[in-house]
Amino acid sequence: MADDPVIVVENVSKSFGNREVLKGVSFSVERGETVVILGRSGTGKSVTLKLIIGLMTPSTGRASVFGHEIHTLTKKEQLTLRRRLGYVFQGGALFDSLSILENVGFPLYQSRVEDSEIERRVRERLSMVGLAHTIHQMPPDLSGGMQKRVSLARAIIDLPEVVLYDEPTSGLDPLTTDVINQIILRLRSALGVTSVVVTHDIKSAFTIADRIIMLDQGRIVAQGTPQQIESSELPWVQHFIAGRALEGEQIDSGAFAMANSRFSRQANLSGKRVAVRGENSGEQSAIPPADQRRASGSHRLPQEIRNRRRDSESDDDSRRASTVSNDDSRRASTLDERRNSTEDAAAESGPSRISKMAPPVRRARFGETRSAEVEDIELDDPPE
Ligand SMILES: Nc1ncnc2c1ncn2[C@@H]1O[C@H](COP(=O)(O)OP(=O)(O)OP(=O)(O)O)[C@@H](O)[C@H]1O
Ligand SMILES: [Mg+2]
Repeated sequence: MADDPVIVVENVSKSFGNREVLKGVSFSVERGETVVILGRSGTGKSVTLKLIIGLMTPSTGRASVFGHEIHTLTKKEQLTLRRRLGYVFQGGALFDSLSILENVGFPLYQSRVEDSEIERRVRERLSMVGLAHTIHQMPPDLSGGMQKRVSLARAIIDLPEVVLYDEPTSGLDPLTTDVINQIILRLRSALGVTSVVVTHDIKSAFTIADRIIMLDQGRIVAQGTPQQIESSELPWVQHFIAGRALEGEQIDSGAFAMANSRFSRQANLSGKRVAVRGENSGEQSAIPPADQRRASGSHRLPQEIRNRRRDSESDDDSRRASTVSNDDSRRASTLDERRNSTEDAAAESGPSRISKMAPPVRRARFGETRSAEVEDIELDDPPE
């Protein structure tokens, strides 16, 4: 059915050993919607994405994309479905032994697209993330932030219908972060891409999200539009979006005062004069206490973030041609048969498959990767 949600996560729990990481998580993502998952480190955000894309299996419950639980499909069916999905791994997951051209073009080499066409498309995607000049470089020659952008270019090389982004802007400067956010917004509005974005970047979350889901300790504690989340009365939500530690987790100011006074004594003993900003110094802190910030509303998101989002959507049509060529737009409807992804190669294994792969793919199978995530992948049928 055209109106069915693209992604459905139903009462999913996931345990590792006796540790339950996800505890009955349920949500769905509509076609063309961008859902952002926020939550503390270690709370199960990456695990949620891996369950959706079938790299992990739920302990209980079900996670489906286009009506299919990927891990229950045959290898061939999984490959066909994964061609419609793109995944930006948290750590980039580039193959160190392949050039940027080969990394980004990886899915296309598997589909036996002409070399000149692969290079054209790779250049185009790299241009979108500002890295066209790196096409013949190797991943270790790039900074961490550049590798993240290359990883994004690879995820969208064949314009998938669904893209899952695991922290696409972590480690990026604010200007590059804005470029990535604009790409995510335009993929949605120009091509109707459905997205789930995991991020710690509150500003990005409020810029790109149609809906925000907040996870804590393996459970959804809040979900709603950015406006609903922003006006939530839940203390945990307010602490999280303000980036303010919870009671009991705040720094022990008594310990700092003791350290300060010890430091002053030592400095005085050695004849140096030091100015110490402390409780007894009479100096005002430049940062108002949390209660004052809350009362003045300064923890709230600036209007500018909301405006940026609106601006991006309103002038999207006019700028569409500059980022997504008409050629690609036409191709988008016929991509099902040809889409492929790097994860496909990781998921499809065995000597017969390897012998069919194009040279860069074969090398990647045996080359080193730097990604912890690739090692994380759970395969129903591990490679021999
Ligand atoms: N393959 C695995 N085996 C065992 N434990 C795992 C595995 N993958 C994840 N975990 C555990 O599950 C928990 C959630 O991990 P996850 O990677 O989803 O966290 P996260 O919310 O993405 O955190 P971060 O924001 O730091 O990336 C962590 O405690 C992690 O150690
Ligand atoms: Mg993570």
